[in-house]
Amino acid sequence: MVKMIFLGAPGVGKGTHSNLVAEAHGIVKISTGDLLRENVKAGTELGLKAKEYMDAGGLVPDDLVIALLKDRISKDDCGKGFILDGFPRTIPQAEALSGITEIDLVVNLSAPEEVIIGRLSGRWTCKKCDAIYHELNIKPKVEGVCDKCGGELYQRDDQKPEVVKKRLETYQKDTAPLIDFYKSKGSFIEVNVEGNVEEVNKRVQEAINDKLNG
Ligand code: AP5
Repeated sequence: MVKMIFLGAPGVGKGTHSNLVAEAHGIVKISTGDLLRENVKAGTELGLKAKEYMDAGGLVPDDLVIALLKDRISKDDCGKGFILDGFPRTIPQAEALSGITEIDLVVNLSAPEEVIIGRLSGRWTCKKCDAIYHELNIKPKVEGVCDKCGGELYQRDDQKPEVVKKRLETYQKDTAPLIDFYKSKGSFIEVNVEGNVEEVNKRVQEAINDKLNG
């Protein structure tokens, strides 16, 4: 059983690399961004509320996201552990999480802002399975089609340059303080994610295994 959090700025590669680590450890990856987008797509009450914050590059209110996450990690598929991608994103969310469950390791991914912006603007995501591609770095075999499930690839609404700018500001203001919050609690590692996916995946997996086994 292992429970991890992946922290990092929008577009740094949390989704890409947490998917690979979750696969290697045989655990589920939970992205609050994916859960919120599913609600937006399904037109639920939560989705309708969340959409206005997401489209503006802000954060969805803590009480809504905490309830969503609490429900998700109570599901049977979390029995062997999980990786949280995009949660917590504020100190109140981190404090709420510590009252719900214990976390074994926090992994902070870092890269310069120009790398992050390049990654975000070229991203394509599968509508069906949320697999992540990049138009220059990680191309699907057939343009516009997911290699894994054959689903259609799309670009997210929040990839527009003006929304990206706002998301990066929101990250600095609300989420970056979590680095010191978790550093002070002990089980924390930081990994630089510059480089191609294979190199970075190796670096991330080695750092995690060293910390968990050391
Ligand atoms: P969310 O979906 O969590 O978005 P994010 O954190 O802003 O991060 P992204 O998903 O954009 O990027 P990523 O770091 O996962 O990078 P990726 O792997 O895709 O949240 C969206 C919104 O939902 C938020 O703005 C907020 O409104 C709301 N929300 C979510 N959680 C919330 C919470 N807890 N509280 C309140 N509101 C919340 O990679 C990016 C690109 O780079 C891809 O194209 C990928 O192929 C490429 N790439 C990745 N790694 C590499 C590499 N090593 N080399 C080359 N290319 C790479």
